[in-house]
Amino acid sequence: MIKSTLLKSLVLLSVIVLFIQCQDKKMKEINFPPTDLSTENLIPKPLKIVPTHSAFGLDHTTAIFTSQSDKSFEEVGLFLAEKIKSKTNLRLAVNQTDAGKVNRMIYINQSDSDALGGREAYELYISKDSIILNSKTAEGAFRGVQTIRQLIPETSNDSLAELPLWPIPSGKISDKPNFEYRGSMLDVARHFFSVEDVKKYIDILAYYKINVLHLHLTDDQGWRIEINSWPKLTEVGGSTEVGGEAGGFYTQEDYKDIVSYAQQRYMMIVPEIDMPGHTNAASVSYPILNGNGKTPKLYEGTSVGFSTFDARKDTVYAFIDDVVREVSAITPGPYFHIGGDESHVTKKNDYKFFVNRVEKIVQKYGKQMIGWDEVATADIDSTSIAQFWASTENAKAAVEKGMKVILSPASKAYLDMQYDTLSKYGLHWAAYIPVDTAYIWTPEGYAGIPNENILGVEAPLWSETISNIDELEYLAFPRVIGYSELSWSTEENRNWDNFKVRLANQAPYMDRMDVKFYRSNLIDWKESKFTYKSIKKD
Ligand code: ACM
Repeated sequence: MIKSTLLKSLVLLSVIVLFIQCQDKKMKEINFPPTDLSTENLIPKPLKIVPTHSAFGLDHTTAIFTSQSDKSFEEVGLFLAEKIKSKTNLRLAVNQTDAGKVNRMIYINQSDSDALGGREAYELYISKDSIILNSKTAEGAFRGVQTIRQLIPETSNDSLAELPLWPIPSGKISDKPNFEYRGSMLDVARHFFSVEDVKKYIDILAYYKINVLHLHLTDDQGWRIEINSWPKLTEVGGSTEVGGEAGGFYTQEDYKDIVSYAQQRYMMIVPEIDMPGHTNAASVSYPILNGNGKTPKLYEGTSVGFSTFDARKDTVYAFIDDVVREVSAITPGPYFHIGGDESHVTKKNDYKFFVNRVEKIVQKYGKQMIGWDEVATADIDSTSIAQFWASTENAKAAVEKGMKVILSPASKAYLDMQYDTLSKYGLHWAAYIPVDTAYIWTPEGYAGIPNENILGVEAPLWSETISNIDELEYLAFPRVIGYSELSWSTEENRNWDNFKVRLANQAPYMDRMDVKFYRSNLIDWKESKFTYKSIKKD
């Protein structure tokens, strides 16, 4: 079966190549000005680039073909065609051998070459006639497709051929990620963000090869995910947000829609139900859960550390079992985040008892537990993961337990920290984080954590001070683009002076996507020819 599919792919490929070679003879040679693939504005910087100084001419005679061995390769091809259409207005056929005049092809190929590193590794061979994208998995092909998208110029070069043509510099790219976990977190609890807002954020993160979106779904100010067995969580707990605005929540169908949208972009959703602290909204909905001795009331402020579940009550664990079961059932990824931060009114022993018990519930539903670094103070498994945000001591305790650590040091990686004293939104309790500070630090071996314990980097965006997508984008962009490079590219390939030029050249993409990014004056932003309103979305 596999053999016959492979044979079919090979036959198809040779027919296409032959066909294109015949066409090629009739084609007028294009005289491309010299190019240099190694100086293209790619973010994150690929592992290895070898330029060959010519170009592939993307035009209406280009077609996309994909391996037939795995249906998901064709989906990646269709995704690329859709993005090329919105950027260039070219309509490229996908896997159609009778699609009229085809001079050049983009071939997305499933390869088992030993040269390819892991699941997300890919190779790109760009020549005058073809772009061959090799990867073992559709996920790797999807990452490679982002590189192709970034290589397509913003405007066509109309002096090279009779009809519009977008020259893509030729050469070879071999690429794979440095860290497997490359994420951002969005706090939809302090302020709620719509499904559409989240999808827009996913789209732009995926363009920069980020593969995790962690959703902080619950906090003192709001419970944002429907739980069928405990409906008041959203009816009551979802009705407020910081500052007295309307709140909101995702139905399970909404959440599945987000998960599926992310999945199509090879991005995993990590759901967080924060506990035992940060639980005021849950306790207002069901006061039986409350463990701080006071009558809970809806909360629209921004203080932390005043709420806790009752860690010694069986009903609380029955409740958590239902929540973890329902959320896990609609989350295909391997992780479940239990929060665990700032439980200032939970007694130390109760906290440890709680985290240990909840870890067992998470495992019962087939998930691996993630918690903020405080969870490392409890007696938990080496398979659980600590998210380092504040305490080096907790991160060290996690390493001693053999746990993996996600790096989100607040003074370097918190997207809600202000750029400087003039920033319109954000806080500065950990630091001011200008665009250069966000980029100039080294995750490898950070705070003495051995590399083998580092799962990756995540940039959290807390939403106390932001209430709409424009404000979200002001804090997230451009810094999150730097975090994508910190987590994907190797240390040798990261350099601020080089990065800031490539970053400046992201302005046209962000303008086209209508991203209201912060135009830091540390960056010499490239002028955009188009605005979102004057051209289609990508
Ligand atoms: C946190 O910032 N409380 C994890």
